[in-house]
Amino acid sequence: ALLSHSQPHIVSIHHAASAASAEIYLYGATLSSWKTKGKERLFVSTKAILDESKAIRGGIPVVFPVFGTQEQFNLPQHGFARISKWEWLGIITETDEEISVQFGLGEAKLTDALRLAWPNSFRLTYTVTLTADMLKTVLSVKNEGSNAFEFNTLLHTYLSVPLVIVPTPLPFRFDRNLQDVSRIHISGLTGHTFVDKVAANARHVEDRELVTIQGEVDRVYVDVQTPEIRVDDGVGGGYVVRKTGVRDTVVWNIGAEKARTMADMGDNDWPHYICVEVGSVGELVLLGRGETWTGGQTITAL
Ligand code: BG6
Repeated sequence: ALLSHSQPHIVSIHHAASAASAEIYLYGATLSSWKTKGKERLFVSTKAILDESKAIRGGIPVVFPVFGTQEQFNLPQHGFARISKWEWLGIITETDEEISVQFGLGEAKLTDALRLAWPNSFRLTYTVTLTADMLKTVLSVKNEGSNAFEFNTLLHTYLSVPLVIVPTPLPFRFDRNLQDVSRIHISGLTGHTFVDKVAANARHVEDRELVTIQGEVDRVYVDVQTPEIRVDDGVGGGYVVRKTGVRDTVVWNIGAEKARTMADMGDNDWPHYICVEVGSVGELVLLGRGETWTGGQTITAL
């Protein structure tokens, strides 16, 4: 494995045995690339803003300490972790099997306004591990203050959905042969309650074995107990997402119409990604003084 500092604001990691690689911006500790078996696995919008003036539209932004907005805190949408400059803590392990690196964020790195909006003493440690076919991202939150605090957190993963032309018998029709987000299947969510953010936060139970994406989807599946969520891309590939220490799973795609209203999302980008986001967002996590909470995900590329 090789660590390159050619661009000081990006950490590049390589798993030498397999040629898997990843890139992480110190801004937001946002993973912006994960390549394995010769393919890019994370989506980044063609209009993503990469000059540290806005959260990166794609990859894996870290949502903390609020999901969306919360009335009691005057914080930006999805909190400050994804718009703060993290510290590079270095390589933790480097073996033939894996390479693991860490990033840190504490309140000292926040602007005065953010510290005022969320007046807690905390330490975030984010560990990114790469093996031949797997990416593991784990966040730990330590309460270093003298009072308990509450938070939500989420790993806002934009999985890449490759656009491929699927060969089918003649007569050839482009729309029938195009493989994109409308052709994927997500399994592992059956029987779980979800909050439908597209339908005024109505609560329903998922009755489909295979969840498909037709148009805008924004659902918070709460307390997902299944050990893995499988994203089948319909052409023999996909992802298996396993979570640890977190309860909920968000499935989000902006859809064609809203994509046109989002400044940092290209009009034709939406078919190329699906967000499967693991986190604790259904309820606040209460963290007592001196306590540490840990949660994260393992994504295996098929
Ligand atoms: C998802 C939310 O996690 O993030 C959506 O469920 C939201 O409601 C999306 O639109 C993107 O948020 P943002 O702040 O990055 O535009």
